[in-house]
Amino acid sequence: MTFRATHLLGIEGLGQDEIQEILDLADQYVDFNRGPVKHSDRLGGRTQINMFFEASTRTQASFEIAGKRLGADVMNMGVQASSVKKGETLIDTALTLNAMRPDLLVVRHPHSGAVALLAQKVNCAVLNAGDGRHEHPTQALLDALTIRRSKGRLHRLSIAICGDIAHSRVARSNILLLGRMENRVRLVGPPTLMPSGAQDWGVEVFDDMSEGLRDVDVVMMLRLQKERMDGAFIPSEREYYHRYGLDAEKLAHAKPDAIVMHPGPMNRGVEIDGTLADDINRSVIQDQVEMGVAVRMAAMDLLMRNREARPGAIYA
Ligand code: NCD
Repeated sequence: MTFRATHLLGIEGLGQDEIQEILDLADQYVDFNRGPVKHSDRLGGRTQINMFFEASTRTQASFEIAGKRLGADVMNMGVQASSVKKGETLIDTALTLNAMRPDLLVVRHPHSGAVALLAQKVNCAVLNAGDGRHEHPTQALLDALTIRRSKGRLHRLSIAICGDIAHSRVARSNILLLGRMENRVRLVGPPTLMPSGAQDWGVEVFDDMSEGLRDVDVVMMLRLQKERMDGAFIPSEREYYHRYGLDAEKLAHAKPDAIVMHPGPMNRGVEIDGTLADDINRSVIQDQVEMGVAVRMAAMDLLMRNREARPGAIYA
């Protein structure tokens, strides 16, 4: 096994071979999930706690289904109803949960770096389900699996990531992963939504959709993440849709077989045309959701194998 990590905190620490190993195992879980009996005992007897300090629909559901299909006992901690509301710190919450001896802790938190900090305080495997605008590794892995299955490879592709790059952990994790697998990554969006220093990330930067999408294999759209904006970054949603919203006309600049992706939740008529999002000949948005379950099963399976291989190890 090449995947040696004890936590999954980001794409940053992963090598090509480790990414490949997760995706190869995830491919097997896709077949498993399409079969009639969606239950294994791979994580039988294990306790998985999902701790979401930020709203989530698909990521939380996906981690819950993934754990249950592998036979783990899954608990969703409702942060709204927990002692966090009474002022308990993240670390105290983590230590309390740790004392209950979970094996896997899945955490989403609004602050960048919070999940890594927490991982230092507990002795179970921690999976980052999104920390602020920093990283969202399982999203990048499920996007990679979707691309690999659709295009037949995950290297030497031209991929445009479009929209609100500045506030997006999805963009950051994808830039790292797609770059590591030797693809050409383009960032397309208004200068106000482009992080400073983006030019130094080994990507090409465009502020015009027709130029940015020219001849790409993959178009990845992002939501305007208003919850992370402090002020106005665009003149109006109407204007934004006109210039940056993906519709058939703008997509025509990409390769004729280019696929359309979106991590969800989608704002139809803001960053993407609703009809295009539903067009099964171009959009792989539902495939992304399906791949999400398989990738999370693979990631939890591999982390547990590492833990089993090193019983009693202190996780750092
Ligand atoms: C993304 C997230 O939460 O970072 N969604 C997701 O996990 N599917 C993207 C977003 O919120 O726009």
